[in-house]
Amino acid sequence: MTPLHKITREKILELLKRVQEPVLKEDIVSLGLVREIGVEKNNVFLHLEASVDDPVIQEELRNAIFRELQPLGANRVEVHFSGKAKEEAQGTASLPIAGVRHVIAVASGKGGVGKSTVAVNLALALLEKGARVGLMDGDIYGPNIPIMLGISPERRPEANADGKIIPLEAHGLKTVSVGFFADPKQPIIWRGPLLHKTVEQFLHRVDWGTLDYLVVDLPPGTGDVQLSLAQWVPLSGVVIVSTPQEVALADVRRAVSMFRQLEIPILGVVENMTGPVFGRGGGEKMAEVLQIPFLGDIPLETQIRECGDAGVPFVKAHPKGLLGERFIHIAACVRAALK
Ligand SMILES: Nc1ncnc2c1ncn2[C@@H]1O[C@H](COP(=O)(O)OP(=O)(O)OP(=O)(O)O)[C@@H](O)[C@H]1O
Ligand SMILES: [Mg+2]
Repeated sequence: MTPLHKITREKILELLKRVQEPVLKEDIVSLGLVREIGVEKNNVFLHLEASVDDPVIQEELRNAIFRELQPLGANRVEVHFSGKAKEEAQGTASLPIAGVRHVIAVASGKGGVGKSTVAVNLALALLEKGARVGLMDGDIYGPNIPIMLGISPERRPEANADGKIIPLEAHGLKTVSVGFFADPKQPIIWRGPLLHKTVEQFLHRVDWGTLDYLVVDLPPGTGDVQLSLAQWVPLSGVVIVSTPQEVALADVRRAVSMFRQLEIPILGVVENMTGPVFGRGGGEKMAEVLQIPFLGDIPLETQIRECGDAGVPFVKAHPKGLLGERFIHIAACVRAALK
């Protein structure tokens, strides 16, 4: 038998792939939970990112890992858990924005699934119901909100007497985007501290006035902007967007796991681009497995894209049609979840 210290990291990972995370129902390697592997004599040390805080589940995982690694000749398998996302988000006091009742983030694990489309239409659907609504473009790498709201690239926000940014208004929404300040032809490159600062400015150095909802459109993934947002402001909840496909769904699990660690309520999942191209039903199934509400699906529909490109979001152009009603329904679910 190969001595344990000669066993490769790949071999250990291969075995760990058989260990399922009991809540997310996927193996711990694919979920990216394995952070460090160490071998010393016949002992294995593992550092896992904690997807759950529950000590009973952690113990189950320890046992499952031991069962897989013992046949290699491991006498002892030591597993440490850490809550990375939460640790990183601690340390700054998150402050509510005066006058703003609820901050809602729209997120996904994956790019291009329709976060911005859902964020814009959700914001307008909430407005349609008589709420006061703002939309913050949290996608500081590739801001799409200015185009989706039809805001001309020449428009620049001004500052009020206190030096706070006065948001631009479009279709009745107050909005702020990096796109208002950047040259659209130049790529936007961020270093960590500046990114963090910009998120803070967009929350606390903007004259949002009185709002019932501030919707934040996030960039894809589980990265710095998400953590920064969670650090600067108490979030009322997050809406997760996914397409019905398997890949997108695996990314959703990761996003859900991160927001759970950050203790941000998950308001529910929207399945976007449902239909013959990407399938249907995956989002609803996922919601069931992850025990989060399903907020509804939006079909893949040329008109939705055209409206986005034209700067008049679908809900604004067709609030009364069947499709418009779907966005209105999602907004109603979000409102109900926040009551
Ligand atoms: N239901 C839909 N039907 C048709 N087109 C859609 C639909 N949802 C989004 N789109 C189009 O798909 C493209 C991507 O959507 P969107 O920009 O909203 O995704 P995103 O998740 O915000 O992307 P990114 O990760 O780049 O921020 C856009 O052109 C948008 O108009
Ligand atoms: Mg986007």
